[in-house]
Amino acid sequence: MNVFEAIETRKSIRSYATKELDEEKLLRILEAGRLAPSWQNKQCWQFVVVKEKETIHKLALKSGMLSKSNFFIKDAPVVIVACANPSNSGHLNGQYYYLVDVAIAFQQMMLAAWEMGIGSCWLGAFNEKRVKEILEIPKKIKVVALSPFGYPKEKDTLYAKALKTFAGSKKRKELEKIVHWEQW
Ligand SMILES: Cc1cc2nc3c(=O)[nH]c(=O)nc-3n(C[C@H](O)[C@H](O)[C@H](O)COP(=O)(O)O)c2cc1C
Repeated sequence: MNVFEAIETRKSIRSYATKELDEEKLLRILEAGRLAPSWQNKQCWQFVVVKEKETIHKLALKSGMLSKSNFFIKDAPVVIVACANPSNSGHLNGQYYYLVDVAIAFQQMMLAAWEMGIGSCWLGAFNEKRVKEILEIPKKIKVVALSPFGYPKEKDTLYAKALKTFAGSKKRKELEKIVHWEQW
């Protein structure tokens, strides 16, 4: 699979098989994040890799904005929590670049995973306070996103189907609606 094929075929996975991830594959995913570009190459990211079932269940049941909205992560063999130390990145034009740094790294990880047949789902609707409590993340660190990583279940659960429909996953705006040639 080349890069474009990975970009074109990737989709958010919300139903996971319980099959474990090889350590080697997990390290390759993390490596894809480690190699990402960042503000002044400061690499402000920190990743918490959660494999313990009990902790994943805590995250599944307690990390959502709406009670159990992240419940679907419960079967995934790994959840990665992407964090940043904002003081290790830039702030310009009202933009906080730690968010950009971590977003690039995490997306690289998701694409590298997909190339190996491993699914993920960016989770932005989480309760940061609860995630930090569960994982004992220091005060000065921001949690940017979390994602399960695991093999997609052959058939989506009903819950996954409903979330997918709600998120309108397949739809994309046409190029004409998002691209301005030469001037806005
Ligand atoms: C910043 C951001 C936050 C997101 N938060 C959630 C979330 O909390 N829960 C969820 O199920 N999906 C979440 N998603 C996944 C999107 O719903 C999904 O990427 C979008 O519908 C397109 O579908 P696709 O990833 O299958 O192409 C998020 C994606 C992004 C980029």
